[in-house]
Amino acid sequence: MTKTSIIIGIESSCDDTAAAVIKDGKLLANIVSTQNIHKAYGGVVPELASRAHQQNIIPVIDQALKQAGVTREELSAVAFTRGPGLMGSLLVGTSFAKGFALGLNIPLIEVNHMQGHILAHFIKTNDEEEEKSPSFPFICLTVSGGHTQIVLVKDIFDMEIIGETIDDAAGEAFDKAAKIMGLPYPGGPLIDKYAKEGNPRAFTFSKPKVSDLNYSFSGLKTGFMNFINNETAKNPDFVELHKADICASIQYTIIDILVNKLKIAAEQNSITQIALAGGVSANSGLRATLKELAAQLGWQVFIPKFEYCTDNAAMIAVTGYYKFLKQDFTTQGIAPLPRYVLGSNE
Ligand code: KG4
Ligand code: ZN
Repeated sequence: MTKTSIIIGIESSCDDTAAAVIKDGKLLANIVSTQNIHKAYGGVVPELASRAHQQNIIPVIDQALKQAGVTREELSAVAFTRGPGLMGSLLVGTSFAKGFALGLNIPLIEVNHMQGHILAHFIKTNDEEEEKSPSFPFICLTVSGGHTQIVLVKDIFDMEIIGETIDDAAGEAFDKAAKIMGLPYPGGPLIDKYAKEGNPRAFTFSKPKVSDLNYSFSGLKTGFMNFINNETAKNPDFVELHKADICASIQYTIIDILVNKLKIAAEQNSITQIALAGGVSANSGLRATLKELAAQLGWQVFIPKFEYCTDNAAMIAVTGYYKFLKQDFTTQGIAPLPRYVLGSNE
C-alpha cells in the first residue's frame, strides 16, 4: 500500500495567482485570483503582476487549504511553477514555495508550466465527465496568450515539441486584433462573442507561409491593422458597423492557421488522439472546428473544462503529483526559469 499523498500546487507565472490541492490524485481545491489591474493598460504589466502576486499569494494558499479541508501539517509536498513566464511573477511563487516547503520540512517539486497545461487532461475530480483522458501517444495543441505549440505526448514525462510559433502566440493574435478594433484586454473572449453573429468569409486576410509545423501570427496582425486603418480612413464607423463580420473573419483565419498545421502533425505521426490546452481552447469556433474534424478524420478530441484550460494551479498540482510518485524532488537552490523549454531540465 502506498501512503496517502497531499500535494499543494502553486501557479504564478503570469497574471493569475493560483493554488490547488490534490489528495491521492484527486482534486480537492482549485483557487485562482485573476489580476484585473492589467485591464487598464491593455496587457499584462510585469511589475504590477509581481506586486499583485505578492499581495494575493497568502490568501490564495489559505483559501485552497480551507476549501480542501487540509491543514498545512498534512501536506506531503509543495509543487510550484518554475517557468516559463515572467521573472518577477515566477519569483513570488518560487520563493513562497521554497519557504513553505522548508518550514514544513517536506519535499519541493518544480513544474514546467507548459507540461502542466498538457497534464490538465489528467486532473481527476468526482465529475464523471472529466475522467476521460487521452491515451498515449497523443498530440496536444497548446494555445494560450503566451504560447502556441504542437506537442507529441508520448508519456506523462516524455513530451516533444514538434511545432511552435516563431513570433506571437495565438491568444496574442486574438488580443492584438481586439486591441486594433478598440476592444478591451483580453480581447479573445470578446472576438469569440461577436464572431457568433458574423460571417467568417466576409473579409479575407493573408495567411503566413512558415515551414514545417511552426506558426507565425505577427504578419496577420500587421495585415489586419492595415486593413482596419484603410477602412476607417474611408468610413470612421467601419469597425462599429461590421464588428461581427470582422470578428468572425479574423477568428476564422486564426483557427484555419492553427488547424492546418495540426492536421499535418496528426497525419505525419499517424495519431488520432488530439488534445487542446491553454486559454484559447475556450474559443467556441476552435472547439466546433475540432469537433467537425473529429467526425471527418476519425479523431478523438479532448478539451479540458474551461477552468483547467486557462492558467490554474490544478494543472501544477497534478504534475506535482506524478513527480511525487517517482520521488522527483528539487532543492532549495532552485531558481525560476523564465524561458523554461518543455522537455528540458534547464
Ligand atoms: O492560458 P491563458 O489563461 O493564459 C496564458 O498563459 O496566456 O490564456 C489566455 C489567452 C488570452 O490571450 C485570451 O484572450 C485567450 O486566452 N482566450 C480566448 C478565449 N478565451 C481566452 N481567445 C479566444 N477565444 C476565447 N473564447
Ligand atoms: Zn498558461
